[in-house]
Amino acid sequence: MSILITNANIITATDNYVADIFIEDETISSIGKNLNLKADKTIDASGKLVFPGGIDPHVHLDMPFMGTYSSDNYETGTRAALFGGTTMVIDFILQKQGKSLHAALDEWKSRSDNNCVGDYSFHMAVTDFNDDTKTEIKDFIEKEGITSFKTFMAYKGALMIDDRQMIGLMEEVKKHGGLINVHATNGDMIDYLTQKHRGEGKLSPLYHYLSQPEVTEAEASERFVDMSNYTGCPGYIVHLTCEGALNAVRNATKRNQKVFVETCIQYLILDASLYEQNFEGAKWVMSPPLREKKDQQTLWAGINQGLVQVVATDHCPFKWEQKLMGKDDFSKIPNGHPAIENRMELLFSEGVAKNKITLNKYVEVACTNPAKIFGMFPRKGTVAVGSDADLVIFDPKEKHILSAKTHHMNVDYSGYEGWEVTGKVKTVLLRGQVAIENNECKIEKGFGKFIKRNKVEQKI
Ligand code: URP
Ligand code: ZN
Ligand code: ZN
Repeated sequence: MSILITNANIITATDNYVADIFIEDETISSIGKNLNLKADKTIDASGKLVFPGGIDPHVHLDMPFMGTYSSDNYETGTRAALFGGTTMVIDFILQKQGKSLHAALDEWKSRSDNNCVGDYSFHMAVTDFNDDTKTEIKDFIEKEGITSFKTFMAYKGALMIDDRQMIGLMEEVKKHGGLINVHATNGDMIDYLTQKHRGEGKLSPLYHYLSQPEVTEAEASERFVDMSNYTGCPGYIVHLTCEGALNAVRNATKRNQKVFVETCIQYLILDASLYEQNFEGAKWVMSPPLREKKDQQTLWAGINQGLVQVVATDHCPFKWEQKLMGKDDFSKIPNGHPAIENRMELLFSEGVAKNKITLNKYVEVACTNPAKIFGMFPRKGTVAVGSDADLVIFDPKEKHILSAKTHHMNVDYSGYEGWEVTGKVKTVLLRGQVAIENNECKIEKGFGKFIKRNKVEQKI
């Protein structure tokens, strides 16, 4: 099967030029002006942007969490991602405390194998680091192609590990060429504040926010970068939300230490005022919570300063019925928010169209850096000869409205209901197959491949 895309305005992390793209089977085989090649299918991309398929390195599909499961499974989640221009996601396996990492991998495979529409990989979340777990790390990196290990400094009594375990894990992961991802908030402080608010009968979603003030994230981020510096293990802070936490990373860069930072689309464009409305605020109960306007400004600036390298989603959807589990107690509201389908369009609309970031920066943080940091570049994350033909054909002018009535995520509300966005994903190719065209998904579950990843790149 061959496809010729003509008159494409190709955007990569560094370039912006018009050319034709020729695809044979799964990969791009040539790029050039007026390619005179016969193809099985021709797509005229005049007036459109063509950029690499988005990579969302932070999603939770079909995940057991807080007494329920996130409502998108591997099929609905990866399909919705494709509709929104994201061709690959990285999901999280959670180790059960007292059990092995391999047992968790088997459990996650039983839900994901042959069920994905788009491409995917896993991070391995280590929730119990001990002498047995230690022996599994090498195998994950070298045999399974899972080279990043997630740690939680919060969710006390559930997923949290202590600093002793963190240091031990860092030493082992560094030895084998992996990377530590971290949910960096102070679990003990959050647990204290949560119990205090509950004891005082302060039970609305607003108190989820007030139980996780900025200092809980700034403190843990600082501690994490110090441990990463001490052990020499590369680190990646997931869903960073605020000025205090980013300043911890800024300090780390002064000692020439590399710590990668991810923020998520919601922290760039939504703020904590959404919690000031009775139970409705549960739609945005996530950890860390939404922050202040000043933090949004810090994050946009952080992207332009190169301190924030990735914009992800932390897609962890729960239906309204599930959110109601915390109707009388904010600490029982399943934490998470749906965005897997919205990230690329929202980041374009709020970032590029409003002149906060350039088109090249857009591709860098949404496509290229996730591929580089997580060991998939240049197979993924760019438009180049030899790369997988994961491409988005995008109309930068078309306006449309986001709504739960039209989205493809398996969740009955949208965190962005009624938002008008500028720019629309029109056609998506995944490894040389047309995946999305005319608002329809053209590929089936099982098409999505597990992508084995290489050891991490410490420079991007
Ligand atoms: O609220 C969130 N973020 N839910 C998913 C789990 C996590 O902490 O990433
Ligand atoms: Zn988290
Ligand atoms: Zn998450």
